[in-house]
Amino acid sequence: MTKELTTLSPLAEDVFEGLKAKGKHLPSKYFYDSKGDELFQQIMHLDEYYLTRKELEIFQTHKQAILEAINGSEPFRIIELGAGDGLKTKVLLKHFMEAGVDFTYTPVDISGNVLEILEGNLKAEIPGLKIETYEGDYFDALAEIAESPEKDIVFFLGSNVGNFDKEEAVGFLTKLQQFLKKGDLLFMGVDLKKDPAIILNAYNDKQGITREFNLNLLDRINVELGGNFDRNQFLHYPYYNPHTGECRSYLISKIEQTVTIMEEEIHFNAWEAIFMEISKKYDRRQLQKLADASGFTPQEVFLDSDSWFADLIWKKEK
Ligand code: AVJ
Repeated sequence: MTKELTTLSPLAEDVFEGLKAKGKHLPSKYFYDSKGDELFQQIMHLDEYYLTRKELEIFQTHKQAILEAINGSEPFRIIELGAGDGLKTKVLLKHFMEAGVDFTYTPVDISGNVLEILEGNLKAEIPGLKIETYEGDYFDALAEIAESPEKDIVFFLGSNVGNFDKEEAVGFLTKLQQFLKKGDLLFMGVDLKKDPAIILNAYNDKQGITREFNLNLLDRINVELGGNFDRNQFLHYPYYNPHTGECRSYLISKIEQTVTIMEEEIHFNAWEAIFMEISKKYDRRQLQKLADASGFTPQEVFLDSDSWFADLIWKKEK
């Protein structure tokens, strides 16, 4: 049977779509298989990768101000999109518990495994925490929010929004906003524009973990789709554009070569690039435009001591 007559997995569909395009590209959401999860954990501990440290600093420094900004006096629910290991969020949850406020924590993730570990951890470390995990798609989770009467606060941390380009970010946040009730909040972590050398280093670490993180997707395609990428024939090249704030990562073919995936041949010219990931850095003006375009009203900005990273509170006002 030919490929066209069989049903392709979402990974296969996206890989063929991306590699047959004029400007080759692969979706960074596929970085996160079990090896990719492990590599991202390592990235978060790198000296060069300041994002995690800076957001943690913001939570530690401003936890009371954050609580005051999100807490009326009525009970609320926190819905965290892409909860991960909860290392940073834990700082806030602990503080909210100690302050005696009434809230429920709902981490949302596509990985049931991630959620199980997180739930076990949090229950052990924060006695009495009300936690209700949601395994599945972000928007399936948000669809249920519309039904509940309590005030919701959506956490979208860690500069995850940075993986979207301009149109995708507006599309995603508009959709999110439409699922919220009047008065609900978005608490979002964004990376800010700064010295380009600092940004570039965060995606070009000396140990080469970020290179591995990118090359791992080629390995994943080899294993899951029977590809024959030779990772040694590709170069990792991150590039920061200080005008747009986009840091884009590419894998570049060092030679002319043909790669076969599920019996399909993909040709590469020498120095042809695959665009792998966008990690966008924002400035104030861009954030205001993003809020306007997606129907949110900015309420608060919390910064680290260097103003490298920001956690924003945006409100759905009408
Ligand atoms: C998890 C999307 C925030 O773009 O900074 C880290 C992923 N990529 N190093 C980012 C990532 C390369 C990260 N986000």
